[in-house]
Amino acid sequence: MRSFSTSTRRALATPVGAKPPHMKKFQIYRWNPDKPAEKPRMQTYDVDLNACGPMVLDALLKIKNEADPTLTFRRSCREGICGSCAMNIEGQNTLACLCRIDRNENKASKIYPLPHMYIVKDLVPDMTQFYKQYKSIEPYLQSDNVPDGVEHRQSPEERKKLDGMYECILCACCSTSCPSYWWNQDEYLGPAVLMQAYRWIADSRDSKAAERKEKLENTFSLYRCHTIFNCTRTCPKGLNPAKAIAEMKKEMATA
Ligand code: SF4
Ligand code: SF4
Ligand code: FES
Repeated sequence: MRSFSTSTRRALATPVGAKPPHMKKFQIYRWNPDKPAEKPRMQTYDVDLNACGPMVLDALLKIKNEADPTLTFRRSCREGICGSCAMNIEGQNTLACLCRIDRNENKASKIYPLPHMYIVKDLVPDMTQFYKQYKSIEPYLQSDNVPDGVEHRQSPEERKKLDGMYECILCACCSTSCPSYWWNQDEYLGPAVLMQAYRWIADSRDSKAAERKEKLENTFSLYRCHTIFNCTRTCPKGLNPAKAIAEMKKEMATA
């Protein structure tokens, strides 16, 4: 029978007669807002990989549960659905719960918060601006033709246009890997939000495509994307925001 367990339980379990310890160092970014005079620093923790689950989130939970309860990070689902454990692991923005621990004990794993974001504490970035930008694209269906008492239908072809976009979990790994977003975060919407803007423009049931496009017709919101493709390379869900942005630009240029 298939069994399910949480990362927490896996992290705490140390089977009797287990293999000898396989120690690995984790170097983790620390910053405490309650001690503003202290600079951010890297703190090293030793974890026995033979008494820990396989993912980076397992190691973080083990450290927090057994060594240092002050270590702060976000997580919820532990299976790549909620998007809350996004962080920079070994130089790559990704989800800690989907990222396998590199078992090379000679190389410390370096873990930072998502880059170019204000930090709330340790590995927790401030997502206020990101969510504000998401809200600004009105991410919900706006239809003038809602059928009365029946389903609002789409053809299989119309529905297919949303594939690769509706699956986005808004983890912000892509936006925080985008150089244009690093330098123009106040005005440029960034790949995650732009892909969601296009997700609603491309929805055959939505009546506001023209208004949605109109809002993006300025120098910054959309056109700061220079098709560098960092966003697509980093997406832990295998999505392609750069392609969605390129399609939206093409559609707007030919409209
Ligand atoms: S496109 Fe990928 S990386 Fe970007 S927010 Fe969505 S799931 Fe995260
Ligand atoms: S393709 Fe556009 S959105 Fe993606 S990383 Fe490059 S500039 Fe940023
Ligand atoms: S804990 Fe939900 S995506 Fe990692």
